[in-house]
Amino acid sequence: MPGRKTLPGKRWKNSGVAATDAVIKLLQPGDEIVAGNDLYGGTYRLFTKVFEKFGLKFHYVDMSDAGNVRSHINKNTKLIWAETPTNPLINITDIAAMAAIAKEHKLLLCVDNTFASPYLQNPLDLGADIVMHSSTKYLGGHSDVIQGALAMNDAALREKLYFLQKSCGAVPGPMDCFLVLRGIKTLHVRMQRHCENGEKMAHYLRNHSKVGKVYWCGFEDHPGYHVAKKQMRGFGGMISFTLKDESEQAARKLMSSTKLFSLAESLGGVESLINHPASMTHASIPREERIKNGLTDSLIRLSVGIEDAEDLIADIEQALNI
Ligand SMILES: Cc1ncc(COP(=O)(O)O)c(C=O)c1O
Repeated sequence: MPGRKTLPGKRWKNSGVAATDAVIKLLQPGDEIVAGNDLYGGTYRLFTKVFEKFGLKFHYVDMSDAGNVRSHINKNTKLIWAETPTNPLINITDIAAMAAIAKEHKLLLCVDNTFASPYLQNPLDLGADIVMHSSTKYLGGHSDVIQGALAMNDAALREKLYFLQKSCGAVPGPMDCFLVLRGIKTLHVRMQRHCENGEKMAHYLRNHSKVGKVYWCGFEDHPGYHVAKKQMRGFGGMISFTLKDESEQAARKLMSSTKLFSLAESLGGVESLINHPASMTHASIPREERIKNGLTDSLIRLSVGIEDAEDLIADIEQALNI
């Protein structure tokens, strides 16, 4: 917007992936990164298919145990990349614990905060150096824009990222900026409803006889529940689940039978979406790697929107009964 200054400490990028790309370009060949083993498929693809060939080394670890992160740090390590809650298995990483490790070893900590949004979680306050958002999702909120954002408290870091942004061309268009700025005005009310609907849907699924595992960080027996409760203001509207019939065919049948939930890759919009991570958002992760980390062929992911919760539950119910 002409005549307007960008907020200090924020850089808007032209996609979430472009924002991630800029963070990794802070590094040099030979540098090492410790990242979570359950990441958005496009992040994993960027790391493995693009940056590995430029001499960067990534270690993918289960970040629910800080010891796993510590044991992969060596003199070349420069960055910890944490996504929490993760896409699609809703794993939780303790951001303050990661920040303590990063400070001790003089590393950068970048948190992908896409699933939580700034309404539910503020990683900078917990000690992270950079927060990355796919603003395509909850910030925009209407599935009509692709954009990313980086937030940081450090002016020098901001300058480095700004230099990378303009040098590499990750510049968002004015219409996209307008859409995200407009979306942010309703973020708080949308997130409240996403959380309410997410909770209802998670409990409905858990009590259904045809449903197998349900992944949602608001369950008290979720391994990350206490950390999520400490660092988040709500548990969000992202849920993954499997069916008792663990065949991919059964999952596909359900996904093609919903009427309110549209089958699509994105998430975080007002309208509910259903997704098959194995063939859609996470198809770029080799099957063996996916399965090893718990992302099965039959996993279904829901982005629970802000429609009437009873309508959404009725839609899943009829699809489960087909
Ligand atoms: C957790 C997470 N991070 C990053 C991205 C990438 O964002 P974008 O689609 O804006 O490039 C996504 C997209 O689905 C995501 O789910």
